[in-house]
Amino acid sequence: MEVSDRAAQVIAGLFEKATGQRFTEERFWRIGTTLTPFCKARGIGSFDQLASILARSADPELSLDIIDALLNNETSFFRDPNVFTQIDRHILPRLAASRQDVKRLRLWSAACSSGQEAYSLAIMLAEQAERWAGWKIEIIGSDISRSAIAKARSALFTQLEVQRGLPIRQLVGWFDPVLDRGWRAKPALTSLVTFARHNLLGPPLAGGRFDLILCRNALLYFSPERKHQMLEGLSLALASDGALLLGAGETALGNSARFVSDPALPIVYRSAAHARFTNAA
Ligand SMILES: C[S@@+](CC[C@H](N)C(=O)[O-])C[C@H]1O[C@@H](n2cnc3c(N)ncnc32)[C@H](O)[C@@H]1O
Repeated sequence: MEVSDRAAQVIAGLFEKATGQRFTEERFWRIGTTLTPFCKARGIGSFDQLASILARSADPELSLDIIDALLNNETSFFRDPNVFTQIDRHILPRLAASRQDVKRLRLWSAACSSGQEAYSLAIMLAEQAERWAGWKIEIIGSDISRSAIAKARSALFTQLEVQRGLPIRQLVGWFDPVLDRGWRAKPALTSLVTFARHNLLGPPLAGGRFDLILCRNALLYFSPERKHQMLEGLSLALASDGALLLGAGETALGNSARFVSDPALPIVYRSAAHARFTNAA
C-alpha cells in the first residue's frame, strides 16, 4: 500500500509523541512495510484512512497497536554474552558484598522488550542460590510496548526464541515445554521477575532505587536531547553506588554529566557524584 506524505507525517507524529523517537523521512519506508499487513488485517484500505482515524484519536487501541508495531523489539537471551560474564564475575560479587547488611537487591531491565534480558538475569541469580539465600531479590523488566510486556509476563517463548542465546542446559533446567507453543519459564524464575509498562521519558518507576540497571539497545534510537533526558531519569533511579550498563555502541559520556565509566570495569557507568565523593574521601 502506498503511504502519502500526509499519512506518514501523522503516523510519525503519533509515534514520536508516544515514544520520544523521531521517525525521520529516510525511515518513512518502514511505515509502509510494517503497517501494510497490519492495515489489511483490520480492514483499513489505505494509509490515508488510517491517518484520518489516528488524527481524530478515534481508536486509542489502534493507536497503541500501531506504536507497538513500529517499535524495534529485537532481543534475545544472554544478548552480548560478555556483558553477562562481567555481571557474573564482577558486578554481582561486588553487590553481594556491599548489600550484605540489607540482603536486598533490585535489578532493572529497562526497555526489556519481551523480557529475555530480565529472565537471563533471573537465571544467573537462580543458579547462585547459595550466594543469595535469605536475600530479597527483585528483577523488574519494563518497556513502553504493551504487546512486548504482555509477552514478557506470559513467560512463554517460541522454539526459535529460546534457541537464540539460551544453552540447552538452562533451557531444560529453567523452562517447561508447552505443547506446540514453545517453552514457559518455571515459577523459580517468574517469582523473581515482574514486568511493567513504562516510558523511559516519563516519571520514574515506583519502589526505590536500583542496584543494577541494564538499559541496552534503546538509547540509540533517540535524539541527543532525548538521550540526555533518559540518562537523567536513569541516574535518579540508580543507587548512588549502583551500576548502569548500556548497549554496545551506546555511551553515557557526552550525553549526560551524571555518569562516569568505571575505571576498573569500563562497560559499567557509575554515578559521577558518587565517584567524586569516593575519590575525595
Ligand atoms: C531493540 S529493543 C532492546 C531490548 C533489550 N534491552 C535488549 O538489548 O535486548 C529496544 C526496546 O526499547 C523499547 N523502547 C523504545 N522507546 C522506549 C521508551 N520511550 N521507553 C521505554 N522503552 C522504549 C522498545 O519498545 C524496545 O522493546
